[in-house]
Amino acid sequence: MQSLQNKRLLLGITGGIAAYKSPDLVRRLRDAGADVKVVMTRGACEFITPLTLQAVSGNRVHADLLDADAEAAMGHIELARWADAILVAPATSDALARFAIGRADDLLTTLLRASDAPVLVAPAMNQAMWRDVATQENYQTLQQRGYQFIGPAEGAQACGDTGAGRMSEPLEIAQRAADLFESGLLAGQHLLITAGPTREALDPVRYLSNFSTGKMGFALAQAAAEAGAKVTLIAGPVALDTPPHVECIDIVSARDMLEAVQKHLPQSSLFIASAAVADFRPISAQDSKIKKAVGEDRMTLEMVKNPDILACVAASENAPFTVGFAAETNDVIKHAGEKMQRKGINMIIANDVSRDDIGFGADANEVAVLFNQALAKSAVNSADENALAQSAAQTIIEKCDKQQLARRLIALIANNMAESS
Ligand code: CTP
Repeated sequence: MQSLQNKRLLLGITGGIAAYKSPDLVRRLRDAGADVKVVMTRGACEFITPLTLQAVSGNRVHADLLDADAEAAMGHIELARWADAILVAPATSDALARFAIGRADDLLTTLLRASDAPVLVAPAMNQAMWRDVATQENYQTLQQRGYQFIGPAEGAQACGDTGAGRMSEPLEIAQRAADLFESGLLAGQHLLITAGPTREALDPVRYLSNFSTGKMGFALAQAAAEAGAKVTLIAGPVALDTPPHVECIDIVSARDMLEAVQKHLPQSSLFIASAAVADFRPISAQDSKIKKAVGEDRMTLEMVKNPDILACVAASENAPFTVGFAAETNDVIKHAGEKMQRKGINMIIANDVSRDDIGFGADANEVAVLFNQALAKSAVNSADENALAQSAAQTIIEKCDKQQLARRLIALIANNMAESS
């Protein structure tokens, strides 16, 4: 269940006796590293108190659509955006009916309308109600809409009947919730990814570097591992934990990074360059500490260009599918499109580093993703470079948390790889 680590789960509880198992479910989700927020329907509050769920989740429980406090702190739209996935456990027969016809008259149904996060539903009801034609039709409608289901399980029921209708056990539900994040989209692929800054030594005690934290690259490595890829991460000096199932190789300078990349390149089918590689390094690192020259107020440093790792990979024989980043302050799409062509790569992810709410160091990012095929196609008829670059902006991923962004980018990359193979 490692893929639940740091995931944000919204648990909807509806009014059935199986709600007594919901605190156990919350505990298991949290044990697996998830942050859980609970939304209860009015019926659920008849079976179990919000206070219990607040205590086990460590978060305030949300119950009302028109809750002045909640609106001030986090409106239902923010809550919908917050969720990486929505679980509903237990889901009653009435809840399935309300979800199927698209009601939005309480907080839970509204959240389901407002969110595009994956939904996992654990039905729980009397066995005759589960077999009922209307329930089965609602179940099928929701499945067609992409909702995933777990259970109901067979067995003795609280009402004395026996049959299919019991809510699945909390541990099984937690495991299925983890599966939501393991898409298999990159199964069989080997991702080689660079992340973080590089450090270019000046002398034994000084270096040149940049403000990259490596967050985006580490999030991509994690999302790719969850999507089934074997992942080798080549990381500059960062203060981040290596994600589960990712092999991390620590390097310091751009030349170390290139060496590590070249070593692992032959096995790789996908290369993502998310590192902020220093473009230049001091022409030679001094063996002993550089001393201040007496009476000198200025110092001149001679620099030499570092190898362009991404361009080297794209130009290599049997090059993997290559993805780069473009950090721009102006004419973002235009510059990114040009960079993609110049380096000969398949995709480029462009972000606007002039904004201080996204990018370097921030937890959120917003990007435009450009695909090389689009550039090539539109190049036939377009003489206007700007229009050409604009037309290449295939997808904008609006501002979101870097973990969410990483999952969306990995899905885009996987689809694009599949199309171009
Ligand atoms: N890159 C690389 N090796 C380098 C420099 C950059 O692999 N020596 C990769 C980065 O990881 C990123 C992309 O290339 O994916 C960024 O390209 P670059 O032309 O370096 O962009 P900027 O650093 O923004 O440079 P410029 O000043 O030219 O805009």
